[in-house]
Amino acid sequence: MKFPTTRMRRLRKSFQVRKILQETKLNPEDLIYPLYIKEELKDRQKEHIDTMPGQYRYSLEGAVGEAKRLEEAGLSSVILFGMPEHKDETGSSAYDNEGIVQNTIRRLKDETELVVVTDVCMCQYTSHGHCGIIKDDIILNDESLNYLSKIALSHAEAGADIVAPSDMMDGRVDAIRKTLDENGFFNTLIMSYAAKYASSFYAPFRDAVCSAPSFGDRKTHQMSPYNINEAIREVDLDIKEGADIIMVKPALPYLDIIKEVKREFKIPTAAYQVSGEYSMLMAGIEAGYLTDESIYESLISIKRAGADLIITYFAPKILKEDVEYKC
Ligand code: PBG
Repeated sequence: MKFPTTRMRRLRKSFQVRKILQETKLNPEDLIYPLYIKEELKDRQKEHIDTMPGQYRYSLEGAVGEAKRLEEAGLSSVILFGMPEHKDETGSSAYDNEGIVQNTIRRLKDETELVVVTDVCMCQYTSHGHCGIIKDDIILNDESLNYLSKIALSHAEAGADIVAPSDMMDGRVDAIRKTLDENGFFNTLIMSYAAKYASSFYAPFRDAVCSAPSFGDRKTHQMSPYNINEAIREVDLDIKEGADIIMVKPALPYLDIIKEVKREFKIPTAAYQVSGEYSMLMAGIEAGYLTDESIYESLISIKRAGADLIITYFAPKILKEDVEYKC
């Protein structure tokens, strides 16, 4: 049937009609909010992150307070990133039972109903800023797996619901699953950063949590932006190793990967709208070139591509300030 019998504009004739025909919906429970917790900060101290307008590094107390406020506003889950006082060659603060992340997990599990996800990596904890153990300027894969497993186990022991390895070493999901199971943590989920690209969009994050590598880059373990098939293989392997949820990161420049992965594997799929995506939109909004509706539109596009969960720094804005794209 074609014009004039079919008129697509009928479907858009009023706000109410548009609303009931809306195909994609963004729900509060789709959002995961990243919290940066800095060990050095005391009481309710917080530091503004200049490269990410409106985002903060929190003290433990401050992070718990912010998490509670967000839970009241409808948030369901957070992902924790720690900034330790002490860094060394093996990132030992990352698997310290009294570490900043471990202590925050315990407080959040005691005082909130939030699903607590933890980023499992070494780069914020190592003196060289790399995601693994270094020898002769090379990141050693297999040696790093023991450390990543120890970190994941310490998070699970503290009560984390989901551990999320972001290091991109080969075999880490398998190593972590085995370690968790051997220690009785059968019910701790693994959300693997399966298709994590070597992206320039992480720049504000590295600045915010001081995790930039002191030499070299991350291109020997993170993926090349030129590749799609490789992402499918990475996701396939992580699923076979035991990942419960897989992640594509960044989100907006990689919508095709989200779509491809979801179609191929039908597994819970998360997308990380990373620091650079956040700062880019915020810069446009602060300059007056864009509006808050652009934020919502970016999140809707990530859902439309197939993401079930979105890690986003915009969660507070969406929940507390009721930002929406008015259809
Ligand atoms: C690594 C990690 C990174 C991000 C999350 N986990 C940075 C990196 O790989 O260098 C990026 C998050 C963001 O940019 O918002 N621990």
